[in-house]
Amino acid sequence: MTPVIYVPDDSGALALGAEKVAAAIAAELADRGIAARVVRNGSRGLYWLEPMVEVQTDAGRFAYGPVAASDVKGLFEAGFIHGGQHRKWLGKTKDLPFLSRQTRLTFARCGITDPLSLDDYRAHGGLAGLRRALAMAPADIVATVTDSGLRGRGGAGFPTGIKWKTVLDQAADRKYVVCNADEGDSATFADRMIMEGDPFVLIEGMAIAGIATGATKGFVYIRSEYPHAVSKMERAIAIARQAGLLGTAVLGSPNAFDIEVRVGAGAYVCGEETSLLNSLEGKRGVVRAKPPLPAIQGLFGKPTVINNVISLASVPVILEKGAEHYRNFGMGRSRGTIPIQIAGNVKHGGLFEAGFGITLGQIVEEIGGGTATGRPVKAVQVGGPLGAYFPPALFDTPFDYEAFAAKDGLIGHAGITVFDDTADMLKQARFAMEFCAIESCGKCTPCRIGSTRGAETLDKVAAGIEPEKNLSLVADLCNTMKFGSLCALGGFTPYPVMSAINHFPDDFAPRARMEAAE
Ligand SMILES: Cc1cc2nc3c(=O)[nH]c(=O)nc-3n(C[C@H](O)[C@H](O)[C@H](O)COP(=O)(O)O)c2cc1C
Ligand code: SF4
Repeated sequence: MTPVIYVPDDSGALALGAEKVAAAIAAELADRGIAARVVRNGSRGLYWLEPMVEVQTDAGRFAYGPVAASDVKGLFEAGFIHGGQHRKWLGKTKDLPFLSRQTRLTFARCGITDPLSLDDYRAHGGLAGLRRALAMAPADIVATVTDSGLRGRGGAGFPTGIKWKTVLDQAADRKYVVCNADEGDSATFADRMIMEGDPFVLIEGMAIAGIATGATKGFVYIRSEYPHAVSKMERAIAIARQAGLLGTAVLGSPNAFDIEVRVGAGAYVCGEETSLLNSLEGKRGVVRAKPPLPAIQGLFGKPTVINNVISLASVPVILEKGAEHYRNFGMGRSRGTIPIQIAGNVKHGGLFEAGFGITLGQIVEEIGGGTATGRPVKAVQVGGPLGAYFPPALFDTPFDYEAFAAKDGLIGHAGITVFDDTADMLKQARFAMEFCAIESCGKCTPCRIGSTRGAETLDKVAAGIEPEKNLSLVADLCNTMKFGSLCALGGFTPYPVMSAINHFPDDFAPRARMEAAE
């Protein structure tokens, strides 16, 4: 067989030199007169090993990494296109523990296939879910999604099937599906990975959402910081249209559905669904009051399904394999799998898809391998900039929406940022207030004014000015923000602030501050 070499063109791999590696491989193939096919795949999500080059051989797929352009000559000399041994040899890809321990449902194809080959997509199970959906009544598709237990992966964890049913039940001349690809949370990259590594799964999921709810038009709202994802999605949509997967007759059915990409302008709050809708309509990204719910009056006043990338990309496998197959993974009311994104000061940063129920400690210590600095872990922030800081004492918390809520935390978009014992939690608490002040849309007072006052008050604590009184003022302020804000930007900023104060009181104590200042 003609050897196939895989060199990712995922943004993460590109940032680490994948383009130079691909060029060196092409030059070496030409020099040696070797006929091999080079595929630019997505990332497998083992970012500390990127650029991770793979070779398909008769014995399976072998991985090498992290590969630098200067390694390429040596790799050829070692016979890497037949899986030969080399110091960058990692063994069979499927046996890498970081991968073999995962349950990949949503990311089943990511890093395996050619992202822009519809044939490859079909050969790996793609479109089976959409075909099944086309043979079902819309209400049955919605019921399948409800039965699967899928909850929104954008942060709020709202049941996807219930949202879809609300849209299905509306009588309207036009309905929309909006995919939220703003992915503004710190430590998150799952949406980007899917859009760059398996864009057709998102297109398929959106088409299923359209058919299930009667929507004929979809928009993918992608943050401007993701140029590679924008280009991949645009090319994939054009290919899908040409192949009849999108357009006036989806896969030859009477259903019409098409998708357009829209690029945001770089505001965190535009990830909030109503702000996003305003932005899509060409207005300023300011949060809308609810009701009306977007499912009833959304984009251009029409019923709109608005879902996160991962929620929509999880739908094809649910339709293909059935609700039960999906819901059999997980725990409690958190069903299926969750792609956990491991980042910050950690040895093995990357994407780990697992059934709900895996504990935070397993993720940080076993999967992530502890800190990259080798120092003890001090805190882990889960759920982006609005998520709580967890100390190691809470590492037995399982990934489960309710279990995290019970510990005053949230899973959010499942990004985790690891900090070692040099982290200053007062600085982190202040950062949360400052972030909120910068990103606030300004519509409501607790968030707009409270965040600025919060940062100032924490500065007073840091300066040792009436620390007890000022800390109690911060707690009071957090209470007002939590219960008085219109959206979760102001409403959830108290989570990182109060968790830092409650779990790491020493960092707020006057003596520690004065010693640190000396
Ligand atoms: C300030 C703020 C930022 C948000 N950013 C995002 C985001 O970047 N991506 C996302 O999917 N959801 C984000 N959300 C959540 C969305 O408002 C909404 O819940 C989500 O798009 C619904 O989709 P889901 O049910 O599939 O999760 C954000 C919410 C808030 C309050
Ligand atoms: S909480 Fe903040 S971001 Fe949300 S609506 Fe109020 S001012 Fe805007």
